[in-house]
Amino acid sequence: MTTTSPSIPDIESVRRLYPGLETDTVLLENAGGSQVPLFVADAIRDHLLHDYVQLGAGYPASDRATATVERAHRFLDRYVNGEGIGRVILGSSCTSLMHVLSHAIAPTIEAGDEIVVCEQGHEANIGCWLELEARGAVIRWWTVDPETGSLDLDTLRAVLSDRTRYVAFPHVSNLLGEIVDVEAATRLVHAAGGRVIVDGVAYAPHRAIDVRAWDVDFYAWSTYKVYGPHMGGLFARNDALAELQGPNHFFIPRDEIPYKFELGGASHEGCAGICGLARLLAILAGDAEPAADIAATCDFETVRSAFETMTAMEAPVQARLLERLGRHDSVKIIGPSSSDTRVRVSTISMLHESLDPGRIVEIAHAADIGIRQGHMYAYRLCERMGIPVDAGVVRISAVHYNTVSEVDRLCDVLDESFAG
Ligand SMILES: Cc1ncc(COP(=O)(O)O)c(C=O)c1O
Repeated sequence: MTTTSPSIPDIESVRRLYPGLETDTVLLENAGGSQVPLFVADAIRDHLLHDYVQLGAGYPASDRATATVERAHRFLDRYVNGEGIGRVILGSSCTSLMHVLSHAIAPTIEAGDEIVVCEQGHEANIGCWLELEARGAVIRWWTVDPETGSLDLDTLRAVLSDRTRYVAFPHVSNLLGEIVDVEAATRLVHAAGGRVIVDGVAYAPHRAIDVRAWDVDFYAWSTYKVYGPHMGGLFARNDALAELQGPNHFFIPRDEIPYKFELGGASHEGCAGICGLARLLAILAGDAEPAADIAATCDFETVRSAFETMTAMEAPVQARLLERLGRHDSVKIIGPSSSDTRVRVSTISMLHESLDPGRIVEIAHAADIGIRQGHMYAYRLCERMGIPVDAGVVRISAVHYNTVSEVDRLCDVLDESFAG
């Protein structure tokens, strides 16, 4: 397809693509889950109403359903820039896909093999790896700076050895919003002879995933946080997958990828929704009227261009939020205080010196503004940073469809309570 280079679209025209935004509630809890564009909802509805039959039976409706599931997979291979080097496996969530992966890796573990897990991670990319200790794996930790929660590559280098098999770490912490240099970390791990398993859940709503440029072995994200249906995706390189046996039934050939790793198959209507997502991306990439079946041809350049548009839309929103919170000496940003889009995404956590997170969230909710409080399943990171896990942090998370005036509405409410 051809697209013009993206300029920042009118925010209201973008918001109109999302029926869920037609509400007085300000939705600043997008790191929990995003809204979907009408294209996604329509595609799911159409699938359920017209093609909701089983795959591979050979009659027309079944052929259409089969083609939809195949199209979604092929689209996602291009979406992550992984076409030809690996495949995207679909599942019900990132957490479940990480468990599928760890169960496939478990029989390959030999006593003394080292697995590196990361303190900054969401539990989805920690707990399943710790279980491999029972198989004889030695667990090593890539620790954070306890003050800032940040990771550095020297700390990673220090825990790598010639026994390193896998290193599991986040691309962005869902609590800090800080972007980790995945490409550099992967280079270090590969030099030691290990493979990387990257949790891209908190990165994927904001930037294009480029598994080819980063050379990652495994990369997971949640499609329901990226304007799509409630599913998860896991990119796996062909050579990394070839070492593993997928869990699907014994008579399904080992090389029938991704199906061998998709227990019971992927949600069919979810796959239809994923195809619908391609229309949103094409619009954000500058194609005013993308064809209904654009998922069949939507390429990585279109995806990249769409996410560049999203980044440009998010930049003033995250800058405004950090600037307004920064006016209060009583507020501490948990994560980078920089609004540089190369440093962070618009997932911003904070603590107040006297108001507890629960109270702050209550105040926002009373003003019809959705934000969240808690450890965000980054339980170990909170513990390490000395943040009480019961209270956790206040997290305000914006994406491209949020506006500066929504941020102002929240901050006006918070200003009052911070002053009082
Ligand atoms: C960084 C991160 N990783 C993993 C997960 C788990 O994703 P899922 O809900 O798809 O299992 C989340 C969910 O919030 C997350 O924020």
